[in-house]
Amino acid sequence: TFPKQVKIVEVGPRDGLQNEKNIVPTPVKIRMIDMLSEAGLPVIEATSFVSPKWVPQMADHTEVLKGIQKFPGINYPVLIPNFKGYQAAVAAGAKEVSIFGAASELFTRKNVNCSIDESFQRFDQVLKAARAAGIPVRGYVSCVLGCPYEGKISPAKVAEVSKKMYAMGCYEISLGDTIGVGTPGVMKEMLSAVMHEVPVAALAVHCHDTYGQALANTLMALQMGVSTVDSSVAGLGGCPYAQGASGNLATEDLVYMLAGLGIHTGVNLQKLLEAGIFICQALNRKTSSKVAQATCKL
Ligand code: HMG
Ligand code: MG
Repeated sequence: TFPKQVKIVEVGPRDGLQNEKNIVPTPVKIRMIDMLSEAGLPVIEATSFVSPKWVPQMADHTEVLKGIQKFPGINYPVLIPNFKGYQAAVAAGAKEVSIFGAASELFTRKNVNCSIDESFQRFDQVLKAARAAGIPVRGYVSCVLGCPYEGKISPAKVAEVSKKMYAMGCYEISLGDTIGVGTPGVMKEMLSAVMHEVPVAALAVHCHDTYGQALANTLMALQMGVSTVDSSVAGLGGCPYAQGASGNLATEDLVYMLAGLGIHTGVNLQKLLEAGIFICQALNRKTSSKVAQATCKL
């Protein structure tokens, strides 16, 4: 059985754009987010407060967060790697932040230049400050179905990292198939392990579509009771520190599938498609959403 309702976390403005080589003008990012808000997405990850030396594309995080329209009832969380990022995000008006860890030691080193243990020390500092300030914190776990540097990752390791981040105070744990190598069977195995440690209501899945498995893996997660799904408009996305990773599950394709299943999302597919067309035109690239491609031919 499927959940009656699914919360979609739109990560296009962050995950989608962070991998773009050419710097996208700030007003384009702002318009993109405003259009996603108009489409009715309940959560839109707006930007990241990471080091501009590491991800130059996100250097305008403050301008973006301050420039977007804040629709009532929509959350605009931002990604942060450390306390410095937390402070900058809060100063820019962030009401929610996301921290990101991984089930892989080597990926953690490449992505945030520290060990998993050290990353937990950083999280602890952020979570303590966030708790005192009443700021909800979402936690990502990357490489849950495979790592570009370590290969296979055991479900037990994913469960261990997820459990720790949940116990530290993350209200939601988003399980990232960062390089999109998973298939539904391994998704099931991994989720079963994690669900022993973290309540399913607090879990989200974040599937990249490198091998074309994102929608199938997400469907498996829905069947197992997960009701929060990350996706990216036009299927944009990737991680600069995960070679070969391609875009996220396209939000348009997710919304289309959920509508077909009679699952409520609150998202207006037509307006979402318009947001996808807008950003693809601005980036001068073809959409990765099958639904958007199909609609163009009508
Ligand atoms: P470092 O070089 O080890 O850190 O980077 P540092 O403390 O030596 O700082 C280096 C410089 O950055 C210093 O500036 C700091 O002040 C500055 P300098 O003194 O040289 O002028 N700095 C900052 N500036 C702005 N904001 C900050 C910040 N922190 C330090 N927050 C660090 C360590 C963590 C900063 C770096 O590795 C980093 O920013 N990494 C981010 C990488 C990233 O954004 N990856 C993509 C997101 S994760 C992802 O995509 C996966 C996900 O989608 C889920 C999935 O798909 O699985 C979430
Ligand atoms: Mg990602």
